[in-house]
Amino acid sequence: MTQDEMKKEAGWAALKYVEKDSIVGVGTGSTVNHFIDALGTIKDDIKGAVSSSEASTEKLKGLGIEVFDCNEVAKLDVYVDGADEINATRDMIKGGGAALTREKIVAAISDKFICIVDDTKAVDVLGQFPLPVEVIPMARSYVARELVKLGGDPAYREGVITDNGNVILDVYGLKITDPKALEDKINAFAGVVTVGLFAHRGADVVITGTPEGAKIEE
Ligand code: 5RP
Repeated sequence: MTQDEMKKEAGWAALKYVEKDSIVGVGTGSTVNHFIDALGTIKDDIKGAVSSSEASTEKLKGLGIEVFDCNEVAKLDVYVDGADEINATRDMIKGGGAALTREKIVAAISDKFICIVDDTKAVDVLGQFPLPVEVIPMARSYVARELVKLGGDPAYREGVITDNGNVILDVYGLKITDPKALEDKINAFAGVVTVGLFAHRGADVVITGTPEGAKIEE
């Protein structure tokens, strides 16, 4: 089975968490794209979605699913999103697709975070995948220097502007043994919009696509 087929297994398995007549929180990425395809098959049974990126919004609308502004919705039952890495305590690195800030906002208004991944994403210690940090452009060099002091090796993601008009620093070389503490530290630097560590708000359910099918951990 290819990695994309495993992503598809996970994406379609998440459909069982979608309640009738609900508004669904929808993340971003290639795994979520499979979930959106699945959502399209039950579009008449749901009210719509709150989306975490322009890319997902476009795909949702293309399938005829209504997309609500996050400010119109006080609470969501479920948020379905992928991850770049996830550990045993369900802390995640996210932001490979540069949508981390909107993802964190939609996750924050959701009761349940359903993380959909293929089985290459599970790790013992977070940090092998470079940690994305969304930064206001004028703070890029300052934040990069602070990240070096933390032992990281930040690289400017050339040519990428986020949906919020900011830039991304990808931090290599971190071994993240205390994800919550690092999330707090990096978020506190002036000019940081969001770090792609989801530790304070980790996943509640993990659906892993494997060659044997989708494995669900609640
Ligand atoms: C986007 C994300 C994605 O969830 C993460 O990058 C995983 O992507 P994919 O499903 O394509 O492997 O955080 O900002």
